[in-house]
Amino acid sequence: MFEIKAKDMRGRVGVLKTKHGNVKTPALMPVIHPRKQAIDVKKYGADIVITNAYLIYKDDDLKQKAIDEGLHKLINFDGPIMTDSGSFQLSVYGDVDITNEEVIKFQDLIKSDIGTSLDIPTAPFVDRQKAEEDLKITLERAKEAVKIKKENDIGMLLNSVVQGSTFMDLRQKCAAELSQLDADLYPIGAVVPLMESYHYKELVDVVMNSMMCLPDNTPRHLMGAGHPMIFALAVAMGCDLFDSAAYILYAEDDRLLSTRGTFKLENLQEMPCSCEVCSKYTPDDLRAMPKEKRRDLIAQHNLHVSFAELRLIRQAIYEGSLMELVEERCRAHPALLDGVRQLANYSEDMEKYDPRSKKSAFFYTGPESLGRSEVLRHQRKLLEMPKKRDLVILPPSRKPYSKFISGHLGEFYIYGAEQEFDMENTDFMVLDVPFGLIPLEIDELYPLSQSAAPRIRDVDSTEFITNFMSDFIENYEQVLIHSKVIKDLDIGLYNKSIESDEIKYVRDDLKKIKAIADYQFGVGAGEALFKGNIKIEKSKKTGKIRHIYDGKVLIVNMRASDSYLVLSKEGARRLHKALPYPKNRVVVNEDSEPFALEGKSVFSKFVIECDENIRTRDEVLIVNEADELLAYGKSLLSAVEINNFQTGQAIKTRKGFK
Ligand code: GUN
Ligand code: ZN
Repeated sequence: MFEIKAKDMRGRVGVLKTKHGNVKTPALMPVIHPRKQAIDVKKYGADIVITNAYLIYKDDDLKQKAIDEGLHKLINFDGPIMTDSGSFQLSVYGDVDITNEEVIKFQDLIKSDIGTSLDIPTAPFVDRQKAEEDLKITLERAKEAVKIKKENDIGMLLNSVVQGSTFMDLRQKCAAELSQLDADLYPIGAVVPLMESYHYKELVDVVMNSMMCLPDNTPRHLMGAGHPMIFALAVAMGCDLFDSAAYILYAEDDRLLSTRGTFKLENLQEMPCSCEVCSKYTPDDLRAMPKEKRRDLIAQHNLHVSFAELRLIRQAIYEGSLMELVEERCRAHPALLDGVRQLANYSEDMEKYDPRSKKSAFFYTGPESLGRSEVLRHQRKLLEMPKKRDLVILPPSRKPYSKFISGHLGEFYIYGAEQEFDMENTDFMVLDVPFGLIPLEIDELYPLSQSAAPRIRDVDSTEFITNFMSDFIENYEQVLIHSKVIKDLDIGLYNKSIESDEIKYVRDDLKKIKAIADYQFGVGAGEALFKGNIKIEKSKKTGKIRHIYDGKVLIVNMRASDSYLVLSKEGARRLHKALPYPKNRVVVNEDSEPFALEGKSVFSKFVIECDENIRTRDEVLIVNEADELLAYGKSLLSAVEINNFQTGQAIKTRKGFK
């Protein structure tokens, strides 16, 4: 019932399937009041809405009508409807007149598409005992709800809400236990007080700790989040659904939502956007209107900016620029900036989800970009790469660096042992923000060359780069550091200078493709792939490497967009022979073996095991349990997702070995 179409960071564009139609996610569900709904949210872009089953249950007229005619008729909406259970009322009034069992059965009776059990929204910062007691009840009720659903053959989809207050281990425990339940959606609850009080740092902790223990193939709903300021950050953390009462509550208060924050009508000289309302009326026009008309128009604006933001977010996911959008949005408020800075503490987790290569370039928008998973990933790879004895560090020039560097390179300072250095035994790297050091051989790979940073460096990135460099050069006997780098970073590690004519960089295509292979597939891949009578064919137009052969046999193609190597049959064979199990492997079960051999795509549910280093867009080897090569292809998911998903394609097979 949930299918993922595109991914960036932990964010996904997906399709949620319900009895009343499909919904593209990330989506916003406007809150519909069952009695006093004034505006037609569908007209302004809502594909799915949420309403409160408890409010209907408590009102005899509404209840009867809902039972007789169904929920969709009652609130006059023919698309998917989610219902909440009264938990929110429970958290406000301390009590409700309904049991968990009653509310589950009632939601099904009135034909809700997605129902919710009666969880206990435990406020942030309560004492531990309270959080534990509440959590126990929340978990019991979630389990009971699933049992009731099964026993009564209820078709309604079911929400199981993650609670645990601001105790991260409790959030994890709750998410992990709920994951065992086979619920259909996993909302994250009791975050409204965090958002209302601008505790975005804690919000990031709560969401990430919940997320890390939830299944990846199920939609997650950030309950009560309706301000568009927060959508991009929440989506990057993996949230798929939002609900908004904000659009109408703010409108009742003469407040206009925007991604930059909230505007009070009384302070407006200009209308803040170009929606129908903002184009047609001035702030004076609105102020002069009767209250109700004004409220409805502001609500219309509020819905417009909320849906517009979600369109922008989905587009950012398609093109791979979600983090750039998040960093931009989080500059709307210092507390949001705290949120995105806190997210950097989770880059280890984020890296497991972030696709290897994206359509759009990596932009450094400020020191927060240093915490992105792309940076972590590159620095880690760099540490794994084989090293020569000596290292030359060059200053950045135009990208790709290797294209604009050649011949004699200027004045250098020496760090380390002072022995003869031999260029054959020297690595050449360029100092780079934010990646640290980039070996010239691999600098065309995504995102190393498909990235940009301002030319004037900030203090944080200088410190970050200097720290990385100082650690990294310890791996070498002798390091030649260009005088510009010394000046730029204000470091004093050197003891003697050296003239340019002794040092020059000579481009070598064979070295380059071997280094790319090692970086992409693991150390040793380059030597194994490119042996024999290697012929490198370049594009006549761009001069870039396109095909690599051994004699007449194709080994790999180089993808123009990101310079990663794409395997041929022979390439796959060589890689399989050279790299030990489980490197780059996806192991499929016996049943799917014939399909893989024929070149049919691999579905997640047939995968028994896979290399934990696989990421979206990687070239992978498809093998059986005896590690016999069956086929090869491109991964559509990362390792954690392949292991987690029970439906859908995992590997787009290029060819089978039948
Ligand atoms: N609406 C806002 N927060 C919550 C929550 O924690 N649980 C439920 N059921 N509804 C909510
Ligand atoms: Zn507007």
